[in-house]
Order: sequence, then structure tokens, then C-alpha cells
Amino acid sequence: MSLSLIAKNIGESATLKLNEVAAILRAKGDPVIHLGGGEPKGKPPLDALLAATSMLNSGEIRYTPPDGTPALKKAIIRYTEEFYGWRPAPENVMASGGAKQAIMSALHAVLDPQSEVIYPAPYWVSYPEMVRLVGGVPVAVTPEDGSFIPRIEDIEQVVGSYTKMVIVNSPNNPSGAVYPESFIADVVEFCEKRGLWLLMDDIYHRLIFDGRKPLNPYDYAKDRSENSKLIIVNGVSKQYAMTGFRIGWAVGNRQLIEAMTNIQSHETSGPSALLQHAAVGAINGIQSSVEGLRATLENNRNVLVNELRAFDGVIIEEPGGTFYSFPDFSHYGTSSVKLSKFILDKVQVVTVPGVEFGMEGHLRLSYCGSIKDITDGIERIKWALDPNSPNELYIGERKLVRDWT
Ligand SMILES: Cc1ncc(COP(=O)(O)O)c(C=O)c1O
Repeated sequence: MSLSLIAKNIGESATLKLNEVAAILRAKGDPVIHLGGGEPKGKPPLDALLAATSMLNSGEIRYTPPDGTPALKKAIIRYTEEFYGWRPAPENVMASGGAKQAIMSALHAVLDPQSEVIYPAPYWVSYPEMVRLVGGVPVAVTPEDGSFIPRIEDIEQVVGSYTKMVIVNSPNNPSGAVYPESFIADVVEFCEKRGLWLLMDDIYHRLIFDGRKPLNPYDYAKDRSENSKLIIVNGVSKQYAMTGFRIGWAVGNRQLIEAMTNIQSHETSGPSALLQHAAVGAINGIQSSVEGLRATLENNRNVLVNELRAFDGVIIEEPGGTFYSFPDFSHYGTSSVKLSKFILDKVQVVTVPGVEFGMEGHLRLSYCGSIKDITDGIERIKWALDPNSPNELYIGERKLVRDWT
């Protein structure tokens, strides 16, 4: 079929595909445990729901400006001032249909065909495909020491004349790693010196553990003028458990935001008026749900790490944030796709293969579900993989018999 070259080269989202697989198995009545998920299970803040309901009742739901409603931009400005210590002008802010769309618009605004975008591995599954969608070339850098913490030297080695942008995502999906302040300082300085765009994907910045505080890249920036090429992307999806509301934003220099807004105005127009209003409710409302979610995730992280540390053959690096972990399962096989499929087939636990995030041998396990999902899920995985397991495992009424070695 005569599809475009871009269409032929774009794969589906591995994580969204797995959501579909889990839903199909559940609909068949299989006792699936979904450790592959990417969204908190709690309810959105009441302020968001009330805001949306009152607007819905008014029936006044119209087009909005392509860069977002004045009320949402004002809320984002206040949020930026609180977490990043500077007060952007409305012209520095664009609201979008999720952080995803903000990243896409930023890529559209700065990349030419063949422009390169560098990001550390392991990386969010969408970065390579997003860069390709814009005709750019994705360049992943894997930390030489095999850790989840990038070093500026690794990035320096791959920078060339085609490099336009570096993307940094900390806390990181899939590893849960929170990059050290020294790396953030280095990468801000490096991009300023080399004139590169630096996109900070901060979507998990408040979901951090062990008393950490969200890092602010502007603290390390020398250039805070309208020439700054620092772009902050964030949104309501994760911190407010509002994944389905599809509201994110970008903050950057005026020229960039103007270009991104022009692009967005033709692609989608402004995001839904109703959902922007809900986002204003969340951002300006009582913030206790964010701390509640953060504390729940920290507790879930502790349970998951304890379970995995008792699992011979698995190496787990403790996540410092997010709701993901990225344990090394290479002891059980080098193909993470095969391993993930084996676990799904044998014990109906959904995991995401590490190869999708640029690191073979790992599986991404989420801990955004219940404690029971975490403990039962890991018990099942252990039973499936450990040759010393008993021969039988009961899942509810269902008896599983181990017929493999
Ligand atoms: C690292 C990262 N960035 C961006 C997004 C997209 O967020 P949104 O739901 O706001 O589009 C996700 C969602 O999984 C993510 O993990």
C-alpha cells in the first residue's frame, strides 16, 4: 500500500499495546495482573472534577485560543514560578493535549530533516518514534557503566553538527532514576555552550521519594533571557492522576512558543476547553492529592523493592521517583520480549520488555497499582521463573501446574 515513508517506519506504542492485551485477557476472564501500566489509579483532585462539572453544566464549551485559555496559562505561570523560581510571561507558555503533544510541537518547531536528538537510555518508548515522525534522527546514549545515570561525557561523544536537541527525563520512565544534580547542571551548561535546545520532560518531577525535592534546571542556567533554549514540559496526567484529561504544557522562549502555537493551531487547535478548565482546578486547587499519591507510590516502591531483593537472579536498582522500576532479568534470558511473553502466557502478569526502552535484559514493572497486585504479581513471576518453585500455584480457584523447567 502506498503509505508514506514515515508511516512505514513508525511502530505502535509498546506500552499502549500492552494495555490493550491486558484488557482483552481480562474481558476473557483471565486473572491478569497489570504491572505494565503507566497511570496512577487514584481519582483526580475534587477541584478538577468540580471545575469540569460546572463548565459542562453551563454548556459553554467552545474553541479556545490555540495556546490555551488565559486561565490555564495563568495557572501554569504560577506553577512555574512555584517550582522553577521564575515567572514566565503568557507568551512563554503553551498548553497542549498532554505532555506528548507539547513534545511533538517542540520537535516540529526546531528540527529540520535529519536533525539529531540525543537522549539517555533507558528512555521513554515514544522519544524515538516522535523524533522520526518529524523526520529527525533519534540518538540514544547508553551510560557506559551500565547504570541508569547518564554522564555528560556520554552525550559529548555523540554530539555532532546535526545535533539540535537533548531530551532529559528525570525522574525517568522506565528506570525511576532521579538524575543527580551534578548531571542536570552539566547538561544545562553543555547545551548552553553548544547552542542546543534542552527539553526537560518533567512529567514526574513531583513524584519523588526519600525526601528529595524537585530539581530546577533554571538554577544552573546562565542564560535566562529570551535566547534561552531551555524548554520545560509538564502536565496534569501523572501528578494529578488525570491521564485521560490530556492536558500538558511547554514553557520556553517566546519565539519557540509562537512557532509551537502556530503548529498546534493547524494540527489540533487549542486543547479541549472543558479539560483545560479541569486542569486549572487541579493546578490551583488543594494539592493534598499530589502528596497522597507520592506517599502511596513511595510505599509501593518499598514493597516492590523488598519483594525483588528476595528474588535470586534479579538485580533491582531502587527507583527514586515515578511509579516504574526497571529490574535486570538477564539471568533468565537475553530477550526481554521473549521473557515478557513467557511471563504473560504462563502466569498472566503484564510487564514491558526492556528493549522497548533501549535496554535489553530488563523488564519494566510498574507499582502504580495495589500492594496486592505488586506482591501477587511478583510471586507469580518468581514461580514461573525459579526452577526450585513448587509444582503448583493457585490463582484464586485456578490451579497452575509447572510443566516447564
Ligand atoms: C516520560 C513521559 N513523558 C511524557 C508522557 C506523556 O504524558 P501525557 O499523558 O501528558 O501526554 C509520558 C507518559 O507516559 C511519559 O512517561
